[in-house]
Amino acid sequence: MRSYVDAFSPYWHPVAFSSELTAVPLPVHLLGTELVLWRTGSGVAVTHRRCAHRGADLSVGVVTPEGLRCGFHGWTYGSDGRCVRVPSQPAAPIPARARVSAFQATERYGLVWVCLSPEPAAPLPEWPELEDGALATVPLPVLEWDVAAGRMIEVVLDVAHLSFVHEGTFGNPEQPEVLPYEVERRATGVGARIVYPALAPATDGMPPRVDRTTLTYDVTLPFAAKLAFKPTLFYVHTVYAIASPLSEEKMRCFYFASYHPRLRNHFPDMFVKSELAILEQDRRTLEGVRPRAQPLDFASEVHTPADRLPIEYRRGVIALRLGKPVDGPAPE
Ligand code: FES
Ligand SMILES: [Fe+2]
Repeated sequence: MRSYVDAFSPYWHPVAFSSELTAVPLPVHLLGTELVLWRTGSGVAVTHRRCAHRGADLSVGVVTPEGLRCGFHGWTYGSDGRCVRVPSQPAAPIPARARVSAFQATERYGLVWVCLSPEPAAPLPEWPELEDGALATVPLPVLEWDVAAGRMIEVVLDVAHLSFVHEGTFGNPEQPEVLPYEVERRATGVGARIVYPALAPATDGMPPRVDRTTLTYDVTLPFAAKLAFKPTLFYVHTVYAIASPLSEEKMRCFYFASYHPRLRNHFPDMFVKSELAILEQDRRTLEGVRPRAQPLDFASEVHTPADRLPIEYRRGVIALRLGKPVDGPAPE
């Protein structure tokens, strides 16, 4: 079994919104590593955050045309992590060890993504609809929870919790039964389509009503999930959750809600407010789960057919930890 860091370093993880990265360096964390991001003429550079000279924090340095300049003694690093200037010794050769580790960064979907390995094991999730302008897409504030990235994605895929955790938002406490459903296992993740009798709570003048909602799940391993809600009475809306692992027990989740642009004018805040209320219900539950780390076996917890989708997802995560194909044999 590979360590958590070794298993997930070869994947792209979001570390910031593109809009957060301005003319100054930005400190971020990923998989137990302190990183600094900065903009270059051609893209985004990302390196370890500690200066090779005396360990100063490069994220309080200055971005110059040459690279990132440390605030302590002015050593300056290019986007490949190599020191290009030592101001106290301008005529001397720069020591070969004057460098910081550099990584790959890319921008897509309004996010900065980082891969800590030289060879990414898989591409980014493929969500072209987020880029073609046909949908109104709203990013939520980052969810910084004491929750494992894998546990977060499992709850996004968990139909059986809806009637309990989400009572009062869209959960239907009267109809907790989960009927049998199929899970599609793919080389990149899992997918499923499940009908849930969502309960829209009473609003001014409107009684509560049950709306059979088709939930379409699409997971890209290791930690990206897309969930489309297609009610019978309203437009489809879709949420995207990408959990970025800070450690085996903690994540920052980047979360978007997208919906038909016609709704933007009528209900500008509706989806954001309701998503935040739903997510707060999840946070309260998930932060209490132990062990915090996502289990790597099927024996330590108890499963039922209703849990099939999160379990198939967990099987994929375990395959990554074992270095095996994710569409291999089903769990016992
Ligand atoms: S600690 Fe960074 S230049 Fe000295
Ligand atoms: Fe939930």
